[in-house]
Amino acid sequence: MQVFMDSANVKAIEDAVEHGLIDGVTTNPSLIAKEGANFREVVEQICRTVSGPVSVEVVGKTYEEMITEGREIAKIADNVVVKVPMLKEGLRAVRELSRDGIRVNVTLVFSAAQALLAAKAGATYVSPFVGRLDDYAHVGMDVIRDIVKIYKNYALPAQVLAASVRHPVHFVEAALAGAHVVTVPPSVLHQLVKHPLTDVGLERFLADWQKVPQGIFGPPR
Ligand code: G3P
Repeated sequence: MQVFMDSANVKAIEDAVEHGLIDGVTTNPSLIAKEGANFREVVEQICRTVSGPVSVEVVGKTYEEMITEGREIAKIADNVVVKVPMLKEGLRAVRELSRDGIRVNVTLVFSAAQALLAAKAGATYVSPFVGRLDDYAHVGMDVIRDIVKIYKNYALPAQVLAASVRHPVHFVEAALAGAHVVTVPPSVLHQLVKHPLTDVGLERFLADWQKVPQGIFGPPR
């Protein structure tokens, strides 16, 4: 399973890349707005920081707007993936952009039916929003499981990208369900790395190490 960071924060992305934790990045208009910086500059910086795919969303709602914006966004860098919302017009744009060789991530997917249509339109990634479904008392992860099964049934090449991931259990369940990619905010990525028993265990090992008369590291005590 590939791990992407769901953020437009260059510092957080740099840190994750330095530690080899992520394979790509997903952004959305809200995440870009949160950075309070020039859209193009932020995207260019992110694309230089991570070598893997970087999803950048169009904001137009008509087919023409999505096509124009999508083509412009695709020119920013070779690793850009154009994010298109799951609308009827959006699917038309997905078909056109992917025909041009542009990779597309269909976003705001909330059902297996939507995901099947997005894959048929030629999407490279399809992003079901797990947490937002949970917010409305649906089990978001069930949608991921269904989509993975449907894509397998028909050997569809689209990749299931589990989005709106809110906690480590979502991450593990997405992996168990067979999602190809999971995108996590920086806070969840840090939670995934940490375990209190690791910290306690390490403290104990290092305290005991003090009792060793001569270590392999450093001079004799
Ligand atoms: O980038 C799309 C998605 O991951 C947003 O997540 O937490 O705003 O529902 P969230």
